[in-house]
Amino acid sequence: MENYPGPKKQNNKIRKSIFVVSIVSIYSSLLSTTNIKSFMHEFLEINNNWWYKKYHKNLKKRYWTFTIALSLFLQRDGGKIVETGCQRHKDDWGGGCSTTIFGDFCKHYNKQLVTIDNNPENLEVAKNETKEFADHIKYIFSESVEYLKRNSGFIDLLYLDSMDCKENPVDDNTEPQTHALNEFKAVEGKLHDESIVLIDDNLFANGGKTKLLKEYLIQKGWTMLMDYKQSLWIKK
Ligand SMILES: C[S@@+](CC[C@H](N)C(=O)[O-])C[C@H]1O[C@@H](n2cnc3c(N)ncnc32)[C@H](O)[C@@H]1O
Repeated sequence: MENYPGPKKQNNKIRKSIFVVSIVSIYSSLLSTTNIKSFMHEFLEINNNWWYKKYHKNLKKRYWTFTIALSLFLQRDGGKIVETGCQRHKDDWGGGCSTTIFGDFCKHYNKQLVTIDNNPENLEVAKNETKEFADHIKYIFSESVEYLKRNSGFIDLLYLDSMDCKENPVDDNTEPQTHALNEFKAVEGKLHDESIVLIDDNLFANGGKTKLLKEYLIQKGWTMLMDYKQSLWIKK
């Protein structure tokens, strides 16, 4: 009898449960009937979602640029991500592990990733590391510019991270810089008003992979959203 809370306390508990259930159902029905899609609260809740918990620590400086790019991609109902340069080592967080994180994201939200690489061994590593997301990934063995020229269909998120770029300020990066520019030009006609472009290896003292492409994007009227370890651009 000592532990019995009494009828008043019991009624309060029941009222509280009814309140919580009502709030949850009102919230869910609001999400399903308004423009805010039910999955978006995960990205809007900034640091309390599966994506943050799984990747924030490892992605370090790339976390926010990847997050904003993918958040926009969801808001804009994007379907296809294309990346040049796949993940080439297990747990290569220094390189970005892009195939893993994009693959996981695509599985989670039922989207598609196309990853292009001209090194079959690297592509094999990427395949092994992303087995669980493989239904959502197309692995393309090809030189990137060649494939991008042939590729048909619109691209909603373009991620450029293929030819290696040296970090030493005295090193000449003209080749990777020209390559990134050529990759963009190869798909320029397949980008639409709501496409998003993300480029890795930005802000190196020698200009990084992004140098020439950034100049070109400005000329073409694109808007830079973030300029950090990666450079993030939108058309509108
Ligand atoms: C910096 S790594 C990519 C890192 C990866 N995005 C990540 O986040 O882990 C560069 C990759 O681009 C590939 N690559 C270099 N030049 C290329 C080209 N012209 N066409 C396609 N892939 C290329 C390399 O084989 C390598 O696997």
